[in-house]
Amino acid sequence: MPAITIIGAQWGDEGKGKATDLLGEHVDYVVKFNGGNNAGHTVVIGKEKYALHLLPSGILTPGVTPVIGNGVVVDLAVLFEELTALEERGVDTSKLKLSASAHVIADYNRQLDKVTERFLGSRKIGTTGRGIGPTYADKVNRIGIRVQDLFDESILRGKVEGALELKNQLLGKVYNRRGFTVEAIVDDLLSYADRIAPMVCDTGLLLNQALDRGETVLLEGGQATLLDVDHGTYPFVTSSNATSGGACTGSGIPPTRIDRVVGIVKAYTTRVGEGPFPTELFDESGAYLAQNGHEFGTTTGRPRRCGWYDAVIARYAARVNGVTDFVLTKLDVLGGLDEIPVCVAYDVDGVRHDEMPVNQSDFHHAKPIYETLPGWKEDISGARSFGDLPANAQAYVKFVEEISGGPMSVIGVGPARDETVIINSLT
Ligand code: IMP
Repeated sequence: MPAITIIGAQWGDEGKGKATDLLGEHVDYVVKFNGGNNAGHTVVIGKEKYALHLLPSGILTPGVTPVIGNGVVVDLAVLFEELTALEERGVDTSKLKLSASAHVIADYNRQLDKVTERFLGSRKIGTTGRGIGPTYADKVNRIGIRVQDLFDESILRGKVEGALELKNQLLGKVYNRRGFTVEAIVDDLLSYADRIAPMVCDTGLLLNQALDRGETVLLEGGQATLLDVDHGTYPFVTSSNATSGGACTGSGIPPTRIDRVVGIVKAYTTRVGEGPFPTELFDESGAYLAQNGHEFGTTTGRPRRCGWYDAVIARYAARVNGVTDFVLTKLDVLGGLDEIPVCVAYDVDGVRHDEMPVNQSDFHHAKPIYETLPGWKEDISGARSFGDLPANAQAYVKFVEEISGGPMSVIGVGPARDETVIINSLT
């Protein structure tokens, strides 16, 4: 098995951490290829619960080499906070590798993220405030700071001077905020240089050599398809490519070496932050999903917006990513409902849309067309095979599989690693 990519097929928080961790035992490398500490994976192993933001969740699996790829933006303070917290719980983190070409999040980027959101007022994106967007903007503007710059003080200083000339003008003159000194930024970044040195390498080379040896590489997407800067609900998106194409650009592994793309879909839909969400619920059903599914953000603690399963976006995700398998998570959360509506298409001003509307204004007022399935009352957390599921739960899975454009290969029936029904093995 060469390389496998895992991506979120909705707006994030689909339970990718669980799927990655499930595969982790069969892979040699787990790579984070996009995003930064805006992500939030919760992984439950036995009685221990781990909330990771920046580190690939494969860090918890002994024997796996976790890799932070070139497509990631790295907050070095957060990196060491997470490493220290894991080490204190006895997790061996010594295998972590960090791309020399990954960009670092500087203090001014965090500050700019927050003030820009305030400035936007009602047009805000609802970002996580971690400096993700401004750091990617610097990368594309060619004024970013990369991990490798920390090993050459004069290059680092020159780059920070260049960036601050612009940022301090912006902070002072547009946002009426105090600027940063070159000294403070350089000193802060240099303070990490010795500690990151053993981890830093050409991760693209490392991963391609691993594939040459027949080892297995898992590429773990942060955020999700509808938050992708190109394919998501722009401008209410993150600033990186969270789709399977981003796995190549963000890791240095070419598309011809990736043979499996696993899309993670929750059995219902959630979203944090602003932006359109056709199946969003504002009634007691939404509250039921939020409460039963513990839908509060791992990164910001914000309550997530909840809605029914949307097969239009699942089909879109299947197409954009080339999904070979879906993992359907949190099926247990739907237990106890009398009926479960599933969105099969949208009504936009009286016209039926079976695919995502091309125009964002149409998507903003798309009304879901539902088909309603009967619910089930049984506790399904003990199910380990498809046949163990109650008939109505089986029918729900079969129905969403037919209309989502890919096989439901794995079904999550509870938060723990083993609370899973495997229909087709992912390895
Ligand atoms: P940013 O990534 O902080 O710039 O935020 C942009 C948008 O992406 C906001 O709506 C965030 O709530 C959303 N977002 C970023 N990371 C995640 C994630 O891991 N899960 C869900 N939403 C996310």
